[in-house]
Amino acid sequence: VILTVHARRIWDSRGRPTVEAEVLLSDGTLARGIAPAGASRGSREAVDRRDGGPRLGGFDVQDALASVRDEIAPMLAGRDPFDQAAIDFALVALDGTPNKRRLGGNTTVAVSLAVLHAAAASRGLALWRYLAEDEPVTIPLPEIQIFGGGVHAGRRTDIQDFMVMAPKAGSFAEALEITAEVYRAAGAIMAERGLLQGVADEGGWWPAFSSNEQALDTLVMAIERAGYVPRDDVAISLDVAASEFGRDGRYRLGLEGREFDRDAMADYLLGWCERYPILSIEDPFSEDDAEGLKRFTAAVGDSIQVIGDDFLVTNAALVEQAAAEQTVNAVLVKVNQAGTVTEAKAACEAGRRAGFGTIVSARSGETEDVAIAHLAVGWNAGQLKVGSFARSERMAKWNEVLRIEEALGAKARFAGLDAMPFRRR
Ligand code: PGA
Ligand code: ZN
Repeated sequence: VILTVHARRIWDSRGRPTVEAEVLLSDGTLARGIAPAGASRGSREAVDRRDGGPRLGGFDVQDALASVRDEIAPMLAGRDPFDQAAIDFALVALDGTPNKRRLGGNTTVAVSLAVLHAAAASRGLALWRYLAEDEPVTIPLPEIQIFGGGVHAGRRTDIQDFMVMAPKAGSFAEALEITAEVYRAAGAIMAERGLLQGVADEGGWWPAFSSNEQALDTLVMAIERAGYVPRDDVAISLDVAASEFGRDGRYRLGLEGREFDRDAMADYLLGWCERYPILSIEDPFSEDDAEGLKRFTAAVGDSIQVIGDDFLVTNAALVEQAAAEQTVNAVLVKVNQAGTVTEAKAACEAGRRAGFGTIVSARSGETEDVAIAHLAVGWNAGQLKVGSFARSERMAKWNEVLRIEEALGAKARFAGLDAMPFRRR
């Protein structure tokens, strides 16, 4: 049983305070969970509890720590750590709000992950194995950022993530090696042209592009310079994160000084889908623009993955609604958007039932917690998005999947294009 739950303040990859929860079981097992933090957040996701005020940018978490000490720890003492759903529903009930604003999604996710880690460790199992419960698993297809943009790079581009995918790689290890070559080539091209300003929040190159197309052109050039064939070997994946610059069907592209209505935005993106080797697009329209998403998804047919992130906020009911209305064909799964492991798993399962692509994802503010690598494998999500190919809060997750792939040995099955079930419909 759970003996104690303790929370402390630690620091995330942006140097901001975050919540770490530590669970001690009666068999002596000690395990930790850490809350990540987003910067381009959906308005319907679980709300983080932050102290506000002038210190530490208002990001301190003393109130969150106090609620673990005064409310959560007493409630969880004596409970069964193997009944994750009961633990998580108790957290939901204790919070009592629809978006976890009382206890904070950062508080509940740290505790929920700590209990999960403790349960697996107590059984002596790697987390992915504990989650898989003897069912066959697939190694996820990685979606890896090359340039950062949007709010992760001072709005240097309107589009937030310019990423690559290597769905025809023979293994996860090979997909990483291909990405390493493309990342290096992209950095070299940008340095030669005076377009390189550093690295952005998720480790992608911080660019000085003058248009969004220049980013796409540079990415295609990097794929070629690395020795790969665009589309055949390496495809492009974008996170438009359109809620950051669009609302009420109007889209303001700051970099190019243009403003689009819904139809012009669709034409702009559909033009890219024709001219560039794009395989996946996340949040191409803002979270309040279901109509734009629906029309776009119909227009690209099932050839391109259209992912709901801010639009679905890892919420099973919203995923089911999206499946019924055919607004998107894939769902991003971020545990802290839901606020507990059980709710995130429900969203992932709802996606799978609908024939959606399911992508377990990190946040732009991350930590050394590698739980999401295990969730992607153990839940059989098929895809994993962690940010770029630099900075150890990112690399720790990629490296963890390498270890899992090696542990599976001959039984390891790399998801590749099978990770996009809608493409075969
Ligand atoms: P965030 O962005 O973690 O800053 O919200 C990640 C994403 O939009 O996928
Ligand atoms: Zn996103």
